[in-house]
Amino acid sequence: MAFELKNVVPWGRNLSEYISMFSLTDSDLSKRIISFGDGPASFNREMTKLNHKVISLDPIYQFTKDELLQRIAETKETVLGQTRSNQDKFVWNHIKNIQNLEQIRMDAMNDFIKDFDLGKAQERYIYHELPNSTRFADISFDLGLSSHFLILYSQLGLDFHIESISEMLRICKEVRIFPILNLNAVKSEVLDGIVDYFKTNFIVDIESVDYEFQKGGNQMLKIKRK
Ligand SMILES: C[S@@+](CC[C@H](N)C(=O)[O-])C[C@H]1O[C@@H](n2cnc3c(N)ncnc32)[C@H](O)[C@@H]1O
Repeated sequence: MAFELKNVVPWGRNLSEYISMFSLTDSDLSKRIISFGDGPASFNREMTKLNHKVISLDPIYQFTKDELLQRIAETKETVLGQTRSNQDKFVWNHIKNIQNLEQIRMDAMNDFIKDFDLGKAQERYIYHELPNSTRFADISFDLGLSSHFLILYSQLGLDFHIESISEMLRICKEVRIFPILNLNAVKSEVLDGIVDYFKTNFIVDIESVDYEFQKGGNQMLKIKRK
């Protein structure tokens, strides 16, 4: 099925959130990083400003800046409305309230939009849809990240996840995925199957992190080459 912008709800996080979600140390930040389903996050722009190297992949990078801006404007109120109706499912600590959430997400997405055309020209934003193969050679990256896509969207099924993570591990020494809950903020249905599949040939760990917005969503999955 073709990937259509009308089915996407763009919602982006920032560098400080990525650092917390993935427990990124200063030494991690200097690694070769690729981020899958990176969408309208400001991670790439902020990292580039700090002279770090990140490649972001996402199907939305096939669209133009204006198309993305329009889609962000169309969907913003829906996402904020859904969050408002489910406030008890979130931890209002670092993000203080709905207005603060709107500010943080819009700042991140506006940052991304400002960087998009330049980043595309510099091949920092590359159109790619999992579970398809990427253009990169084996072990081209130290770290592969997935924030709020894999595992969260459990409805994509276990086969989709195994194929996607296998491709990530082909090109990366280590993969980190956050969160490990599904969209209903309960343990993702695909988590056990993923752990069972990869634990034979890889080092698989679930680690607590210093980030919790979805209640109970403070763990990441780490899969490393042996
Ligand atoms: C909730 S957003 C997360 C964006 C960003 N990682 C963050 O945390 O701020 C989910 C992203 O997954 C992307 N996505 C959807 N289907 C995908 C696929 N098959 N392969 C890779 N990314 C996909 C969407 O386009 C969207 O940008």
